Amino acid sequence: MLIRRAADIRPSEITPESVFHGRRALLRAAGFAGAAALLAPALRADEIPGRYRRLGTLRSSPLSVRETPNRFEDITTYNNFYEFGLDKGDPAANSARFRPRPWTVTVEGEAEVVGRYTYEDIIRPHPLEERISRLRCVEAWSMVVPWVGFPLRDLLKRFRPTSKARFVAFETVVRPEEMPGQKGRTLDWPYVEGLTIAEAMHPLALMVVGVYGVELPAQNGAPLRLVVPWKYGFKSIKSIVRIRFMETRPPTTWSLAAPDEYGFYANVNPRVDHPRWSQATERRIGSALFSPKQPTLPFNGYAAQVAALYEGLDLVRNF
Ligand code: MTE
Repeated sequence: MLIRRAADIRPSEITPESVFHGRRALLRAAGFAGAAALLAPALRADEIPGRYRRLGTLRSSPLSVRETPNRFEDITTYNNFYEFGLDKGDPAANSARFRPRPWTVTVEGEAEVVGRYTYEDIIRPHPLEERISRLRCVEAWSMVVPWVGFPLRDLLKRFRPTSKARFVAFETVVRPEEMPGQKGRTLDWPYVEGLTIAEAMHPLALMVVGVYGVELPAQNGAPLRLVVPWKYGFKSIKSIVRIRFMETRPPTTWSLAAPDEYGFYANVNPRVDHPRWSQATERRIGSALFSPKQPTLPFNGYAAQVAALYEGLDLVRNF
């Protein structure tokens, strides 16, 4: 008989999965968010393949949402990363050749400190935190993800942006030999994104280096990606190699590809439909087949924290 260490035993082997999740839901419904959160680590360790390097001790972020995270498997096999292909399974299936080290990030533009930095230079000064965030894709599906990272603003401040820096632009790496999707012209490479400086300096904007306590898998944007949880997922650019402080609004990949469908702001907004589908509801990945869609919340549920950024702005025109 095979004897396994406790850590190798999935909770679903001890408790049927439906009962396990049902129990968590019950605890939450009864207001035991804390107790449910305490259960989370038991669910984690055994689900994560040993090849992923652990990131050590993490602070837990006060900005986490109190929702049960999606499973590691959902988060790492249902992805959008067109550099590796168009289907949700392509990024996991086609990224074995991708090398996230060595890695450098070029910082340029309207800042006092500019230059080329290694991944280690970028992350060294920053204590890492675990932050559970909602991710709402413009395609009307969503997940809850326990990211690991640090506030983007703590990184940006190190470069001392000048008073002319009104926007920050980000760029993804171009490596067609490692990213087979880049051999085609599905999008104009490199993938580019941008934020206003006020958005980039908001404490909810996170520079992400890991998920579920381990280093980011390639398919999630290794080694460094952005997470802007009140915006549609396409703003959360992956595998970043360039940061540019700018006076003018930077071009962004999806608004270049289809300007009538994707705007620069891309704030989650249930009242502004995509021209081809409704944005009023969303499908939570991993929820039971045929379970009803859930309502989409303004700013993805972060309105109390971010709505002030857009005071006086027409969010229908500036979609
Ligand atoms: N970044 C790059 N470089 N290329 C992409 O295709 N897709 C975006 C965003 N970042 C994308 C990207 C979209 S549409 C979404 S929904 C999220 O990544 C998905 O992140 P996830 O795969 O980690 O869930």
